[in-house]
Amino acid sequence: MKPPRKLHIKSYGCQMNVYDAQRMVDTLAGEGFVETASVDDADLVILNTCHIREKASEKVYSELGRLRVVKDDAARQGRELKIAVAGCVAQAEGEEIIRRAPTVDVVVGPQSYHHLPQLLARAKSEGRALETEFSVEDKFGFLAPPKPDAIRARGISAFVTVQEGCDKFCTFCVVPYTRGTEVSRPVAKIVDDVMRLADHGVREVTLIGQNVNAYHGEGPDGQSWPLGKLLSRLAEISGIVRLRYSTSHPLDVDDSLIEAHRDVPALMPFVHLPVQSGSDRILAAMNRKHTAADYRKAIDRFRKARQDIAFSSDFIVGFPGETEEDFLATLALVTQIGYAGAYSFKYSPRPGTPAAEMRETVSAEDMDERLVRLQGLIDSQQSAFNMAAIGKSVDVLFERPARNPGQIVGRTAYLQPTHVMAPADIIGQVLPVRIASLERYSLLGELAAPPHALAMRPVSSHITHGA
Ligand code: 5AD
Ligand code: SF4
Repeated sequence: MKPPRKLHIKSYGCQMNVYDAQRMVDTLAGEGFVETASVDDADLVILNTCHIREKASEKVYSELGRLRVVKDDAARQGRELKIAVAGCVAQAEGEEIIRRAPTVDVVVGPQSYHHLPQLLARAKSEGRALETEFSVEDKFGFLAPPKPDAIRARGISAFVTVQEGCDKFCTFCVVPYTRGTEVSRPVAKIVDDVMRLADHGVREVTLIGQNVNAYHGEGPDGQSWPLGKLLSRLAEISGIVRLRYSTSHPLDVDDSLIEAHRDVPALMPFVHLPVQSGSDRILAAMNRKHTAADYRKAIDRFRKARQDIAFSSDFIVGFPGETEEDFLATLALVTQIGYAGAYSFKYSPRPGTPAAEMRETVSAEDMDERLVRLQGLIDSQQSAFNMAAIGKSVDVLFERPARNPGQIVGRTAYLQPTHVMAPADIIGQVLPVRIASLERYSLLGELAAPPHALAMRPVSSHITHGA
């Protein structure tokens, strides 16, 4: 029997890329590849790239420079190392990569991962292969599902893509160009995926999509189902105790989603709802299609449906034309909402996007200074949110042994990492933990009842609902 070939994937960027990397591993498992953590013994290295912000493509070229050395070393030892570039930089700059980096054997865009085996074969026979078309077929139908061993190795929390692409065309964003227009997967396929994951030990599923709450997949009744209805259906699957979704757009917050937060206990009360800016002038220039007041209204609707709900967001500082007054409006919005956490970025012009043509740029010093102020405010809100857990009993889904011997780590509803001393058989269970302290971003606590009493609790403690 031939020894398995080894595959190393390095992923940059968003959760969608993490998920895509797993699908590539699953697809190539059918070709006899097994994953390796090191480039040094790999037969194939895939760089799964991100194009969303600054210098992403430069990072790819410098990584390719390092890989060329590894490839040459392997050749000297009589081994052949193939190098593939996948992800959004591959999509945006495919031809350029082929021209600039002769070491690359395969360039593959996000819509073509199911063709990886053929592309590798083509690279072998023709030297190199490139595919960055938005193919008409449904790639999900062709990507291999994960094997039981792979599911178990990845742990109790899994991502499932339900929607891909975006039609919003925010003026700063490359996503509509690299991931294409919005496509939703049918409900039945998602239900199958989640059932398979649950059968092999997954307890928490995060539905992902670039614009996940624009989901409108075909239901078993032939109707288009909104995200809230899909979430209600998935909550019925035995073994699934927690559901999440990311990333949402404020315009697509509909009644079904709000109702799901009210009615589906497995749906976690933690929503990532990017707003980008608190200034209506900048929101208009970004083509966000909503105002700061619209955003606040969306937040209020969630809060009415579920009191303990918390939010995170994304912000961009230094968008072209952003004045101090615009920036103060962002700080005011953050103060008003009160976040459990948020990401903030300096604006970075993306080639081919409308904002890259805007001339009123903000100086690097102003951007740096605004980023520091915004992050200071967000950090203080995050600390206050984490501190508020101290002394309380909170439900934690336990995921894996921690680095400290005897400790198990899990997450609260708000994704706060939480450590307790406990036996490893609590992994996969949701158990109440009395929080004693906060160490940096981690909560420390004790199981609210001794483990032997807890061992009597059923694994699946969620209540199911009809669709
Ligand atoms: N510059 C800076 N940040 C950006 N993002 C998207 N495009 C850009 C850009 N050109 C940020 C947005 C988005 C997050 C995923 O990345 O905040 O929500
Ligand atoms: Fe990009 Fe999100 Fe705007 Fe779509 S909604 S264009 S993914 S920032």
